[in-house]
Amino acid sequence: LDISLIGVPTDIGAGARGASMGPEALRVAGLAAVLESHGLRVTDRGNLNGPANPWLPPIEGYRHLAEVAAWNQALHTAMHAELRQGRLPIVLGGDHCLGIGSISAVARHCRETGKKLRVLWLDAHADFNTASLTPSGNIHGMPVAVLCGHGPEPLTGIGGQTPAITADVVRQIGIRSVDAGEKRLVHEAGLEVFDMRYIDEMGMRHTMEQALLGVDENTHLHVSFDVDFLDPEIAPGVGTTIPGGPTYREAQLCMEMIADTGRLASLDVMELNPALDVRNRTAELAVDLIESLFGKSTLMRKK
Ligand code: ARG
Ligand code: MN
Ligand code: MN
Ligand code: MN
Repeated sequence: LDISLIGVPTDIGAGARGASMGPEALRVAGLAAVLESHGLRVTDRGNLNGPANPWLPPIEGYRHLAEVAAWNQALHTAMHAELRQGRLPIVLGGDHCLGIGSISAVARHCRETGKKLRVLWLDAHADFNTASLTPSGNIHGMPVAVLCGHGPEPLTGIGGQTPAITADVVRQIGIRSVDAGEKRLVHEAGLEVFDMRYIDEMGMRHTMEQALLGVDENTHLHVSFDVDFLDPEIAPGVGTTIPGGPTYREAQLCMEMIADTGRLASLDVMELNPALDVRNRTAELAVDLIESLFGKSTLMRKK
């Protein structure tokens, strides 16, 4: 299996500065070496380039719309090129607005190859805001809505088909912070959400069984991992911490059950913010979980 690391050093869609340092923190935590220790071939493509963060207030409900579009267009192009070569891209974010460029590329690749897409969105947040609903104007709170066609043309048009995806390909897991208007739109769109209440009552095992239902040999499985999915007690290095997230063990099981499908074909690692971290421990935890996602297991060997 050939993996490509794509660094996207920007915090252009976030409400706190620092996610722009995420790619380097993941490298320093040893991501490439850990993957190679499992027999995977890893090529680090380095970092994409894009506009600086001007740190301006929102205009008509969007902060930095033109810059967000430029970064996502660049990521779309890079991601699509990796997929076309039959490689497994890992996006080193960067804030979660980059899910737009990443997942629009995956969706385009699936259309071109006749694959069935499934997106697992691991996050404390639904990221389903629009210009009129957003409390902040930060576009990292909007990528899922944009991908489903709710948003401004410079973003919804990336990849040449609007909407890039339909809501039925998405499963959201770990959700525990949804804004009031956003909640209405999530219901309206019919997004399938396994929130923390569901995980508490049913357990992570049952949650993942449900979220992975229907994944088969023809499925391209994309994981969009917002590091604020994790409980802030174990993962302080993110801009928007929300208490009550999955524990270390729950997160490991989540990753292991995804690995067991054998269908993981692309990955985002988003919102890691080294400026808010403690001695890079959140980056190290992310790398540890990614290791499980690629099949680290303690004793048992599947097949
Ligand atoms: N819902 C809030 C907003 O729209 C927070 C979004 C946080 N998103 C993220 N990717 N961390 O501003
Ligand atoms: Mn997010
Ligand atoms: Mn989040
Ligand atoms: Mn480890």
